This record gives sequence, C-alpha cells and structure tokens, in this order.
Amino acid sequence: MRSELASPHTFYLVAERDGAREVAGPPAVAGAGRSGGAGPVGAEVVGTVPPLPPSGSASASASHIVGYAGLSAPSSAEQGDVQNIAVVAELRGAGLGRHLLRRLVAEAERRGLSDVLLEVRIDNSVAQSLYAAEGFEQIAIRPRYYRGAIDAVIMRKQLAVDPTEEASP
Ligand SMILES: CC(C)(COP(=O)(O)OP(=O)(O)OC[C@H]1O[C@@H](n2cnc3c(N)ncnc32)[C@H](O)[C@@H]1OP(=O)(O)O)[C@@H](O)C(=O)NCCC(=O)NCCS
Repeated sequence: MRSELASPHTFYLVAERDGAREVAGPPAVAGAGRSGGAGPVGAEVVGTVPPLPPSGSASASASHIVGYAGLSAPSSAEQGDVQNIAVVAELRGAGLGRHLLRRLVAEAERRGLSDVLLEVRIDNSVAQSLYAAEGFEQIAIRPRYYRGAIDAVIMRKQLAVDPTEEASP
C-alpha cells in the first residue's frame, strides 16, 4: 500500500470537508506520507470538488477527509486501473463517488489511456451500479479473488480516442 501511494504513476484524489481539495499524488492520510505526518506529501493541487454538506456525526467530523480515489497509470501503460474509491458513509448517495470516478476517468483520458479497468466484489452492488452508470462494462469474473473466497467482477471502460491523434501519420 505504501509503495502504491509513493508511486509517481499513481493519481490520487482526496476530497476534504473543508477546502474540498483534490491532489495528484499521495493522499493526505495519516502515516501515508514519507514524512509520516498528516500533510499531503508531494501533493499537487489540481482542482476543487463541490462544497460538501456538513455532517453532525462524530465519525465524519473526526477527519477532514470525506472521500478518496486512486488511479494507477504508469507512463508506459495503455490501460489505467482504478485502485480504490471510497466515500465516508455519512456522505454516500450525494454524488461524491460519481464525481471522484469521473475525475479519475478524465485524468486517464488526459494521459491518453485507451481504457480503464477495475475490480469490484461481486456482492458490492452499489459500486457496480456506479461503475455501470459511468460506462464500465463487466468483462470477466475472477473467482475467489477477495478474502472469504468472494469473486471479483472485472469491469472496463473504453475511453474516447483523440481524433487528432488518429489522424496523425
Ligand atoms: C461506492 C461508493 C464510492 C459510491 O459513492 P457515493 O458517493 O455514495 O455514490 P454517488 O452518490 O455518487 O452515487 C453514484 C451512483 O452509485 C450508485 N449508488 C449509490 N448509492 C447507492 C445505493 N444505496 N444503492 C444502489 N446504488 C447506489 C447509483 O448508481 C448512483 O447513481 P444514481 O444516484 O444516479 O442512482 C460508496 O458507496 C462507498 O464508498 N462504498 C464503500 C467503499 C466501496 O465499496 N468502494 C468501491 C470498491 S470497488
């Protein structure tokens, strides 16, 4: 996990309650950075996410981070992989997951990738609904991939090819 976070080829988005920041690079989760501190290490602010509704719950207020998502996209690869995507329980169903996923896909397109792959537990119908709604299609089942012998559904979204690149010799 730590090496993934440190990879220069991994694009992470972190949605924060205050400031609603997006960063490229390691997310500002405790202990994830090389410094071991809570600050974003090597992070680059690339945009903002919409203001998030306040939550009165204790668990949500314990952290400024309300969601994150990661894309693995090595410079030599044609495909990207959604590493993870999550939203705190208190804020689910408000569109943040979709926003994070769309930002990952937009980044994959910006990098010129042909498609984006992901794995999701076969019993995670909520995440599968999100992915299907965003154009991901099931392409395979990986049996007993997760702990507890839970199958993984492999999904893929093909990205639009830049017509200016197609026309190039
Ligand atoms: C999957 C997850 C990231 C979705 O985030 P979210 O902010 O709740 O999702 P959104 O509000 O953007 O909803 C987007 C779509 O997800 C699906 N969805 C969201 N909540 C749902 C629910 N309770 N039941 C069924 N589908 C649901 C719908 O397709 C929805 O589109 P719609 O609103 O047009 O119907 C979030 O549920 C989560 O963090 N789950 C736990 C971690 C996880 O399972 N991550 C995926 C690992 S592969």
